[in-house]
Amino acid sequence: MLRTAILAAARNHTLERVVTNAPVSRSIVKRFVGGAGHEAAIESSRELVARGLTVTLDHLGEDTTDRAQADDVVAAYGTLLDALHDAGLTQGLGGLTARADVSVKLSAVGQALPRDGEQIALENARRICEHARRVGATVTLDMEDHTTTDSTLAVLRELRLDFPDTAAVLQAYLLRTEGDCRDLAYVGSRVRLCKGAYDEPASVAFDKRLDVDRSYVRCMNVLLAGEGYPMFATHDPRLVEIIGERARATSTTDLEYQMLYGIRPEEQQRLADAGHTVRVYVPYGAQWYGYLMRRLAERPANMAFFARGLVSKG
Ligand code: FDA
Repeated sequence: MLRTAILAAARNHTLERVVTNAPVSRSIVKRFVGGAGHEAAIESSRELVARGLTVTLDHLGEDTTDRAQADDVVAAYGTLLDALHDAGLTQGLGGLTARADVSVKLSAVGQALPRDGEQIALENARRICEHARRVGATVTLDMEDHTTTDSTLAVLRELRLDFPDTAAVLQAYLLRTEGDCRDLAYVGSRVRLCKGAYDEPASVAFDKRLDVDRSYVRCMNVLLAGEGYPMFATHDPRLVEIIGERARATSTTDLEYQMLYGIRPEEQQRLADAGHTVRVYVPYGAQWYGYLMRRLAERPANMAFFARGLVSKG
């Protein structure tokens, strides 16, 4: 119930204005967001990389309503990619791992625009992929709510013709995802598996946590048995343990763990220190509201922390 209410609040623009303009203490946003601008996000990334972690950066912003706004997002990714390059963060260790990555929401680059939204998003994502290739970075297409899944996978297919290292995201809470994992478990295919962060109807998604976790394990098995490059995005201690066990059992070393900036940082470090590739998702930018609300919905215990921040003057 609380999760549904928080996710509904995440899409409420009046509330967004109130919360965004409230004297939110800097610490609340700072805990989950890598910075207000790309400079701060680069600095956060530099610190993570210095500790043996890798990064994927997300320029916050979704629900783009016109082409100019979509162009601004593409330009922001261009600025970010150049800054990553200048900071020496795009040099890779070879193969698909360890290079800096950027995560892109197709809704931010025009997917929801009336008429030709998918085509506009494809062209804009292509511009970001071209820029990423020039500087030696990779791109991941974030996955949004289920109404966008087919369109996002269609854009992915097109992009991969020219940019085969473009990564997909699949959400274990969707009933369809085990099949999508099978389709995408081919050589060179980078796939991030997460549980899923949106409020989905029972007609398309598992609604019990246990069923989502079971689905995650089934999808994990498909990806580990396949020939692609799995990227397991979860903070769930039990799933992290199962990933480790299954990877050992199948002698798979070519995989990565992914976690969000500010969530279980000690665990991120522990896995990196144990020799695993760990990628931290670093969101940055002024439009942090929707992102932060989804993190609160995952863990309502953070609500008290947030509420304290809202009433403080910091
Ligand atoms: P779950 O929510 O069950 O949490 C398990 C445990 O992790 C908790 O008990 C707690 O210990 C810890 N934890 C989890 N969330 C926390 C929080 N907010 N604060 C503190 N502790 C917390 N989703 C999506 O729909 N599309 C996408 O493209 C992506 N991309 C993505 C990238 C990366 C790198 C990650 C890690 C996650 C995503 N997600 C996502 C979000 C994902 O779908 C999911 O909502 C969150 O990762 C939370 O799910 P967990 O697997 O962590 O488990």
